[in-house]
Amino acid sequence: MVKNSLFNLKIEEELPVLDYRLNRSGKRSRLSGILNTMTGFRLRFLFAVCMQVAATLCKTSVYLLLAWFIDTWLVGGDHSVPLFLVGFAFIGLSLVEGFSSFQANHQANYTAERVALRLRNNLYDQIQRLSFSYHDKVDTGDLIQRVTSDVDAVRRFFSEQAIGIGRIFFLYIINWVAIARIDLQLALTTMVIVPLIFVMALFFFSKISKSYEAYQVQDAQLSSLLQENLTGVRVVKAFARQDYEIEKYRKENEKKYKLGSKLILIESLFWPSTDMLCGMQIVISFYLGASSAIAGRITLGEFIAFQALLNWVIWPIRNMGRLIVQMSRSLVSFERVNTVLAEQQEELRQGEKAPEPFLSKQITFDNVSFSYDGKNKVLDEVSFTAEAGHTIALLGSTGSGKSSLLALIPRFYEYQSGSIQLDGMELNQIRKEDLRRNIGIVEQEPFLFSCTIAENIAYGVERDVNREEIMQAAKDAAIHESIMAFEKGYDTLVGERGVTLSGGQKQRVALARALLKNPRVLILDDATSSVDTDTEVEIRTALSRLMKHCTTFIIAHRIQSIMHADLILVMDKGKVIQSGTHDTLIRETGMYQRIFDIQTRIEANLEKEISDAG
Ligand SMILES: Nc1ncnc2c1ncn2[C@@H]1O[C@H](COP(=O)(O)OP(=O)(O)OP(=O)(O)O)[C@@H](O)[C@H]1O
Ligand SMILES: [Mg+2]
Repeated sequence: MVKNSLFNLKIEEELPVLDYRLNRSGKRSRLSGILNTMTGFRLRFLFAVCMQVAATLCKTSVYLLLAWFIDTWLVGGDHSVPLFLVGFAFIGLSLVEGFSSFQANHQANYTAERVALRLRNNLYDQIQRLSFSYHDKVDTGDLIQRVTSDVDAVRRFFSEQAIGIGRIFFLYIINWVAIARIDLQLALTTMVIVPLIFVMALFFFSKISKSYEAYQVQDAQLSSLLQENLTGVRVVKAFARQDYEIEKYRKENEKKYKLGSKLILIESLFWPSTDMLCGMQIVISFYLGASSAIAGRITLGEFIAFQALLNWVIWPIRNMGRLIVQMSRSLVSFERVNTVLAEQQEELRQGEKAPEPFLSKQITFDNVSFSYDGKNKVLDEVSFTAEAGHTIALLGSTGSGKSSLLALIPRFYEYQSGSIQLDGMELNQIRKEDLRRNIGIVEQEPFLFSCTIAENIAYGVERDVNREEIMQAAKDAAIHESIMAFEKGYDTLVGERGVTLSGGQKQRVALARALLKNPRVLILDDATSSVDTDTEVEIRTALSRLMKHCTTFIIAHRIQSIMHADLILVMDKGKVIQSGTHDTLIRETGMYQRIFDIQTRIEANLEKEISDAG
């Protein structure tokens, strides 16, 4: 439904989120890319261009009518056409001009806004579907830049630049024809400038493209810096690094300023250069015109008309050049947007259906090796078997590859060699969507959205959940009491607009979120590291009740948290160096025994100190 009233200026239009998919792989020329973005609005835009021409046509006609009126009606005294008709013609032409001009602007802006809307939605959609590895290597600030500033540059292409093409072309043609009617030879001489302006415009086009690209990259760098600084504001303050941060920003900002100045300098050089060419053209044409008049080939009146028309034929050529130059920015931005759109999406539905019921037998890792960058091995020939319903614990020094190992199970990353089998099916053949639907994860650094606690817990659950279910999950994660202590309880807003939760509270909300999903596989990456020992016991009791029909992978640094596991894997430098149950491992000389000894000694000392103090 489109209700677009001119007077109350209300635009109520229900727009689909993705009216057209722009994602594409393979190279396409920029022109066809732009035409593709305009799908559904091409005719409308053509109409806008035509309306722009019509407006110009009316304006020209008003001048012609005026000339005729003065020559024939006022001076010539020929009153065969009544005055009121002449008046009507003036009013009529002005009305049509106004209407056409309005339509041209309105339709071009409408197209521009819709194309921008489409690009933004497509980019957002695409960003959701890009792989973990893509997000690992791309700056957040750069992506934000592409969704905002670059899309805006493309919008301006439609609303400000492309719309003028028809008008420029039309003005050139009618003025050129007018000169040709006076003298064809003179008209032909005025064309010398056309290729020159084109060559010059193309020269500036390529210069500006390069310069603008560098400017955008630097601008993105600056956004990234700002974004990182705001996220890490606490660290900055805690380490009193304000001056260092200010200096860092100043340097980057100065780079942007310099690149911006260079860009503006190149752009502003374009006008004087074209002025020079135009000036030369005018002088030459003027000379040729004057010679023709002196030689008697054209009359004096014709010479004066030629002189006036000459400006009107030069103007469109100059503007054509300017248009080409301005377009360079938009096209660079368009290309930047397209690079993101052309990225390969992570195929969530590709592959085979996961076995039903999900994970009823076992997951086996067989000599699995994995590297993020193809060079440094993060996992080195890892082998173990996780029985369905069991709890598998991972222990090991930091950076030993525990999180990386578990990231392979939901296929966040693909292993490069060896084999992982889930109920006998090769993991990389199973649809990611099926895997992720059945796996609940509490990340090492859980993230909560800026919405209510209840919404955060219910995030990612596909079915409708009621308050009771949310509360039950919160109770299991031992966070219910803390939530109820907030004034608005489960409706408390989290994040920038609401309360800030403590590290342990965040972890437990994330745990409640994972539990509510009722997953077949639960991955807890250091999920209770920020929780006190009493609460951890509480969570563990709840989990052991829930985990009966759930295979759980748990990473923890405290032996206490993992000693009840059915299988403990001790990791070091990407390898599993020990595996077994707590009882077998404490008897083996090795890392596990060492960690166990240290931790029990620390605890014993602590208890002694407490009792001594008491
Ligand atoms: N997204 C990533 N891209 C590239 N390298 C990574 C990435 N994530 C982790 N690494 C590297 O992989 C190695 C293993 O990291 P991982 O996070 O698996 O360790 P971890 O055992 O979970 O450590 P911790 O106990 O500190 O959480 C580290 O050297 C780390 O630098
Ligand atoms: Mg980790």
